[in-house]
Amino acid sequence: MNILILGGGGREHALVWAVKQNPKCDRLIVAPGNAGIADLAECATLDIENSAAVVGFAEANAIDFVIIGPEAPLVAGVSDELRAAGFLVFGPSRAAAALEGSKNFTKQICDAANAPTAAYAHFTQAEAAKDYIRTQGAPIVVKADGLAAGKGVIVAFDEATALNAVDEMFHGTFGSAGAEVVIEEFLDGEEASFFILCDGSDLLPIGTAQDHKRVGTGDTGPNTGGMGAYSPAPVLTDAVAKKALDEIIAPTMAEMTRRGMPYHGVLYAGLMIKDGQPKLVEYNARFGDPECQVLMMRLGAQALDLMQATAQGRLSQEQVNWAEDHALTVVMAANGYPGAYEKGTVITGLDALPKDSIQMCFHAGTTLGQGGIEANGGRVLNVTGRGDSLQEARDRAYALIDQIDWPEGFYRPDIGWKAL
Ligand code: AMP
Ligand code: GLY
Repeated sequence: MNILILGGGGREHALVWAVKQNPKCDRLIVAPGNAGIADLAECATLDIENSAAVVGFAEANAIDFVIIGPEAPLVAGVSDELRAAGFLVFGPSRAAAALEGSKNFTKQICDAANAPTAAYAHFTQAEAAKDYIRTQGAPIVVKADGLAAGKGVIVAFDEATALNAVDEMFHGTFGSAGAEVVIEEFLDGEEASFFILCDGSDLLPIGTAQDHKRVGTGDTGPNTGGMGAYSPAPVLTDAVAKKALDEIIAPTMAEMTRRGMPYHGVLYAGLMIKDGQPKLVEYNARFGDPECQVLMMRLGAQALDLMQATAQGRLSQEQVNWAEDHALTVVMAANGYPGAYEKGTVITGLDALPKDSIQMCFHAGTTLGQGGIEANGGRVLNVTGRGDSLQEARDRAYALIDQIDWPEGFYRPDIGWKAL
């Protein structure tokens, strides 16, 4: 099978690593890829948000299966055009990706599906939004409706912060994403991510994880795309996972199908769990990054079979072969991230690292430059370990980090602290 993977982050390196282990995989092309992916697959230059360009590329390279990593091509409708051209695709349609692309849409679906989530109101005018905040009081959560690269959510612990967030959104801080605003009840509890494959009629859970959104040790400082993750998430016990499936995910999927926009792909449910009761915080229409890295580390080669079965609508025949294992990934980021950071700094020690089924350094923002591997983004490496216990997985990841020399990078020393 000739496979094309769209994307070039740590998530895609992990997907490539898993897919490549499956004997079904013949040719593997990744666009745009990165320096780590280039060790395992061909990297191609392609505008992955341009549907016509992606279809043309897939035709020219006799691609049998396309796996879409990030949200931008999904929201741009790349999967629709690929399917219309006859390609097998892993990734939801543009209409179904609105579960990630519009917070208000997701809230309406939850209402119709009777899925537990935070109470909310939706606004297109700043004054009405501010009046609502004044009546509700803090804590309260202000969200830009559209995609805002993970930065469009303000959890406000006082009224002034919430009012200010509304002003910023309507003044265009998040571009068109902020032209509509959702204001939500603050949910208290422990957050975890649940990943479910959906083929339009059947569901198959493929793992749980916990992310570390804040940049600093002890969950302090500004939000990031994620500084580390581990799987499984102890808070998502079998009982909580079953509740989430029965009360939130299955009714959402049924409502999507009822509306004529069946969901095909991986659904990422961000949940808040309190006293054993899960509530939906958000959906994403893709794998999490860095959550995908720990999921792929645990799933290995079967990930390709599962994604293919999802795309072909035969999930009912599939099951996940679980090991009683744990995986943990630590993100190494460029000094300054999530603010301004330098590009082009040189990383050494990567070639000598062991690369196997229990330890792997996935690349996110890297490129091959004159000095060797160079940092080319904010989040740069995802150093990942697997083990029989979370502690063992964690020890493996941090032991790899000790062998990496990158003076201009940093990482959180406490990934997994909540679970350990
Ligand atoms: P989102 O982009 O919707 O995932 O929001 C980003 C983060 O903001 C989430 O991962 C939560 O940590 C936090 N958050 C979002 N909505 C709420 C809420 N209603 N109550 C508490 N925290 C929230
Ligand atoms: N790590 C959070 C996300 O992928 O959205």
